[in-house]
Amino acid sequence: MRFTTFIIMFISTWLIISPAITSAAENFPFFPSLVNSDTGEQVPSSDFYPPKKCAGCHRELYKEWNGSMHSNAIKDPIFNALWKLAADEGGEGTENLCAGCHTAVGTLAGEITRDDEGNFQMSDIAREGVQCHLCHSIVGTSMLETPTNMPQNASIIVRPSKVMRGPFKDAEPMWHKAEYSELHTKAEFCGNCHNVFHPANNFHIENTYNEWKFSIYAQKGIICQDCHMMPIEKAIETAKTLTRPKNPGKATGFSKERENIFTHEFVGANFTVTAMLGADKHAEIAKKRLKSAASIDLTLPAKATDDGITRVKVRVNNIGAGHNLPTSLTEVRQVWLDIKVLDAEGKIIYTRGDLDEKGNIAAGTDLFGVEAVDSEGHHTIKPWEIERFTYNNTIPPKGYADREYSFIVPKGSKGPINFRATLRYRGYPQAVANYLLGDDAPTLPIVDMTAAEGSVPL
Ligand code: HEC
Ligand code: HEC
Ligand code: HEC
Ligand code: HEC
Ligand code: HEC
Repeated sequence: MRFTTFIIMFISTWLIISPAITSAAENFPFFPSLVNSDTGEQVPSSDFYPPKKCAGCHRELYKEWNGSMHSNAIKDPIFNALWKLAADEGGEGTENLCAGCHTAVGTLAGEITRDDEGNFQMSDIAREGVQCHLCHSIVGTSMLETPTNMPQNASIIVRPSKVMRGPFKDAEPMWHKAEYSELHTKAEFCGNCHNVFHPANNFHIENTYNEWKFSIYAQKGIICQDCHMMPIEKAIETAKTLTRPKNPGKATGFSKERENIFTHEFVGANFTVTAMLGADKHAEIAKKRLKSAASIDLTLPAKATDDGITRVKVRVNNIGAGHNLPTSLTEVRQVWLDIKVLDAEGKIIYTRGDLDEKGNIAAGTDLFGVEAVDSEGHHTIKPWEIERFTYNNTIPPKGYADREYSFIVPKGSKGPINFRATLRYRGYPQAVANYLLGDDAPTLPIVDMTAAEGSVPL
């Protein structure tokens, strides 16, 4: 069987044959992805209905999903660039690890190949990424059988059929059948793909589900769906009040009113790629989400003296994210403090967090993220090389991070002194975008998430 050859090749390439990997390879036929079908056999991609089929009745849900990062999980140019690199450098089989989450349909079908230019080829249905029929064919999770006993690396079990699984106990659809699925109403459903672990060393490269799991939100029963499958205003309210939202509506134009309809935009923070691919509505929601995620408190001294040291404390609060800020690709996402101190004449006395002409953030800037390193301790952003993080400066849910700034007000300055702190977000370092996209790389946009200012008399 081709899987066996593939697994042996995979293991020999990564050169680490630990008992955990051997057993994962035996139990998961699509290893290094943990995605599986209920029979353990391949599933032809033609067994999945295209999303357009669902659009016939679920028009609104389709419009919401179309343009989401789920619908773009394969079209995403940043993903594609790193995926190619993973296939070239990560060793045999690495590309299937990625595909297991970005296109489970293509992986389950075993149909992903590369052309002469190294571009990935697959059926049109596999290109639809994380799509309707895939999610509504998830019949279970193998999260307790994974090497870490946690949801990770697409630990889903899929059985495509005409039975759509979802949150209703009494749905009577036409054309297809329906079955209640408790899993769809739980964060674990999402966690199966939103925990990305290194398949050989099991390091948690993307840890969104785990961050949520041990948060106040999990304690209050507030799940991913309550923030990412709800209109943005309700999601913001949910984070504020720590109570689950309600969103009455209908699943199709002609079905009965339901107590709760979960919207399907699946917006996180990605306003860069959504805008690149023309999903402007999704990009706008992402900006709103980012602007609702954090707040800043300043502790300013009562008075500053020129020629003496002035100290200002800046507290950054994660008020809106149900996981760390930032989350997921914390080794590339950039959240940082831009600090400006001006005298009364507008002259800059002190600055941090500036960009140079190439778009790089100045040394000495306070960034909230992680540094990922390989087995030799060298900095890397290639997931297949990551062995550990040297530090983790992300801000936990409803937690905060304190930073202090000390500066000398030059003699003869005019008071009062104005202190301004802005929290900024960028999807990737400009250098990473240039590296991945080459000449096509745009100048990456930045969102100002929140800001605070205050003045200190001299
Ligand atoms: C990432 C997985 C995922 C994708 C992709 C997805 N859904 Fe859903 N869908 C869910 C989950 C999870 C729920 C239930 C949420 C809950 O109850 O907590 C749901 C709920 C539903 C419901 C019940 C009504 C509602 O909105 O609450 C319908 C109908 C539905 N989805 C249809 C679709 C269609 C049509 C598409 C494609 C256009 C789609 N889904 C894409 C995960 C997905
Ligand atoms: C366990 C599921 C899973 C696996 C395995 C996985 N990814 Fe992802 N990937 C995700 C999720 C979920 C996101 C979205 C996180 C976010 O945007 O915050 C993502 C986002 C990305 C992004 C960011 C895209 C953007 O537009 O910012 C890149 C690049 C990426 N993945 C590359 C890869 C590569 C390369 C591999 C294989 C080495 C891989 N992924 C394996 C789930 C997975
Ligand atoms: C011919 C119209 C029609 C088409 C096409 C259609 N659906 Fe439905 N679907 C319905 C109706 C009607 C309901 C019931 C809504 C209710 O009871 O509130 C429903 C319910 C659902 C539910 C909820 C099931 C539950 O028990 O919670 C899901 C999930 C779903 N559809 C997914 C899909 C997906 C995925 C597709 C495309 C592969 C699709 N539907 C295509 C009409 C349709
Ligand atoms: C089959 C795997 C899979 C499942 C299940 C899944 N996701 Fe995703 N999700 C992905 C991948 C892959 C991406 C990233 C695509 C990219 O960036 O290229 C993603 C992206 C996202 C994003 C966009 C992130 C951003 O940066 O804007 C959000 C939000 C999201 N998912 C939420 C959810 C929620 C909520 C659920 C559960 C209801 C869920 N996902 C279930 C695979 C999955
Ligand atoms: C209380 C609301 C809330 C809950 C609960 C929540 N999120 Fe988020 N999520 C946010 C906000 C706000 C952002 C934007 C700020 C950020 O990036 O952290 C976000 C961002 C994201 C991103 C994009 C991060 C990036 O920079 O690309 C992903 C992916 C994501 N969430 C997935 C999830 C998953 C999966 C769960 C459940 C395990 C979840 N979220 C639970 C509010 C929430």
